[in-house]
Amino acid sequence: MTGTKLDEAHWTEVAEQWIAWARLPDHDAFWAYRDNFTRFVGFGSGRVLEVGCGEGRISRELKALGYRVTATDAVAAMVEAARQADSAEEYRVAGAGALPFADAQFDLVMAYNVLMDIEDVPAALREMRRVMKRDGVLFISLVHPFRDRGRFAGPEPDAPFVVEGSYFGRERFEGEERHGGLTMHFAGWSQPLEDYMAALEQAGLAVVALREPVPDDTADDRLRSYRRIPLFLWLKARALG
Ligand SMILES: C[S@@+](CC[C@H](N)C(=O)[O-])C[C@H]1O[C@@H](n2cnc3c(N)ncnc32)[C@H](O)[C@@H]1O
Repeated sequence: MTGTKLDEAHWTEVAEQWIAWARLPDHDAFWAYRDNFTRFVGFGSGRVLEVGCGEGRISRELKALGYRVTATDAVAAMVEAARQADSAEEYRVAGAGALPFADAQFDLVMAYNVLMDIEDVPAALREMRRVMKRDGVLFISLVHPFRDRGRFAGPEPDAPFVVEGSYFGRERFEGEERHGGLTMHFAGWSQPLEDYMAALEQAGLAVVALREPVPDDTADDRLRSYRRIPLFLWLKARALG
């Protein structure tokens, strides 16, 4: 792994797990937020860059909304899976910290559940801003930083949400989730909202819209608690000045 950043090394190792996990309809939480997501993004015809596309499901949603999508990921196996599923118009293997595009190319840059995986968030946000057009938008989805620091005390939908330790500080997380016969080994960094905001500010980006989406009414019991405590945080940011 010499020379490979920790985030890229992890995702290379778990690429096959992620492709199976993300591609199975209704398997993970994404599907219960999908309609909310497409409503918040809205139809468009501009040029979009997805950073950290995985097997391509977000790029496919953007394509269905009318956008011209370039799908990128640090891991070649992810980009190949996205290509096989006809997720975008263009594909590149690229880490978020060094995007292989000229300045001011994209109307929309999409960072969907990828910033928690990235070792150097400030550098990634600077790159995203660089490739955005002056009037472009950056869309960020995060596992909600508050959710990240706590756990539900039990499986029942009204179980208390418990925060042990501190909300503050940057921490490495690592763990396995099992569901529907599949296993996914997640690893990344958890940091408070203020750290994300500081990185946005330093990159010259300002938040212009924020959502704490809840799952669809039809979502299964596993997700019912997320009608009380948000699982995701969605932000839209624009370049300052
Ligand atoms: C949780 S998956 C999300 C995939 C997709 N956006 C989705 O929501 O289905 C995170 C993705 O980010 C990619 N990734 C991790 N570190 C990265 C980096 N430094 N630059 C670009 N992509 C990265 C991983 O390879 C993985 O495909």
